[in-house]
Amino acid sequence: MAQSKRPAALVTGAAHGIGRAVAQHLLATGWDVGALDLPRTGLARTYGRARRALAIEGDVADEKIAPAAVEAMLDSFGRLDGIVSNAGIMIRKPVGRRELTDWYRVIDTNLTAAFLFARAGERALRRSKGSIVTIASTRAQMSEKDTEAYAASKGGLVALTHALSISFGPDVRVNCVSPGWIATKDYGKLRRKDHAQHPAGRVGKPQDIAEIVAFLLDRERSGFVTGANFVVDGGMTRKMIYEE
Ligand SMILES: NC(=O)c1ccc[n+]([C@@H]2O[C@H](COP(=O)([O-])OP(=O)(O)OC[C@H]3O[C@@H](n4cnc5c(N)ncnc54)[C@H](O)[C@@H]3O)[C@@H](O)[C@H]2O)c1
Repeated sequence: MAQSKRPAALVTGAAHGIGRAVAQHLLATGWDVGALDLPRTGLARTYGRARRALAIEGDVADEKIAPAAVEAMLDSFGRLDGIVSNAGIMIRKPVGRRELTDWYRVIDTNLTAAFLFARAGERALRRSKGSIVTIASTRAQMSEKDTEAYAASKGGLVALTHALSISFGPDVRVNCVSPGWIATKDYGKLRRKDHAQHPAGRVGKPQDIAEIVAFLLDRERSGFVTGANFVVDGGMTRKMIYEE
């Protein structure tokens, strides 16, 4: 395949929510996009007819998927300039009832997959002087009950990001975005107090994350940024809460 003139990014978890907003935003701003998600998540419906989009079905926790996805990108677009490791799940369970299989499912999907995609993409990204963006969470720093696996996976992702930025630099920049509350559906059904509790005055939208991801993928604009974690949470992690 001849190399496309446009940059190409692979986005995991692109069928819904934040990943979908990221993929659509990149498509709208001149990128070729590989949109990866689990089978039967409507990928073909969303991307099947989009020019410059490639729908890739697979489970990010499966070790074989990342190299296959990178190969598909190179076959289709001739290049790889960005990976957005966004696919993620949460399983809420009290510690005493958490099966080890649940624990591994969350860690494998949210954390190990980001390592697998970085490993698979390293060579192509070094060639393009590309970049990786991981999607962690403010839950890397703060928690609700019964979310140990998710919090651990996201904390690991923040650390994995800075470790990769050192190993892959200066060719490849690696950054992390930690969203707070991002309403991926029914934004209109949110309550006034849902918005009001945020210092920024509103709950987040997937587009809020898409904008910063696009900035971090763009070497022209963010070439001096690597190893960083960007908290995009409307200020919630800066707010002290004491009972009155
Ligand atoms: N929405 C929020 O408030 C919020 C806040 C902080 C962090 N995040 C993180 O942002 C990312 C996206 O979250 P979202 O709210 O858009 O979630 P979502 O559930 O709407 O979308 C996640 C997507 O990932 C896909 N996915 C899940 N497991 C997968 C696997 N094993 N292989 C391939 N694809 C898989 C799902 O099918 C889905 O399309 C996640 O990593 C999540 O932890 C979300």
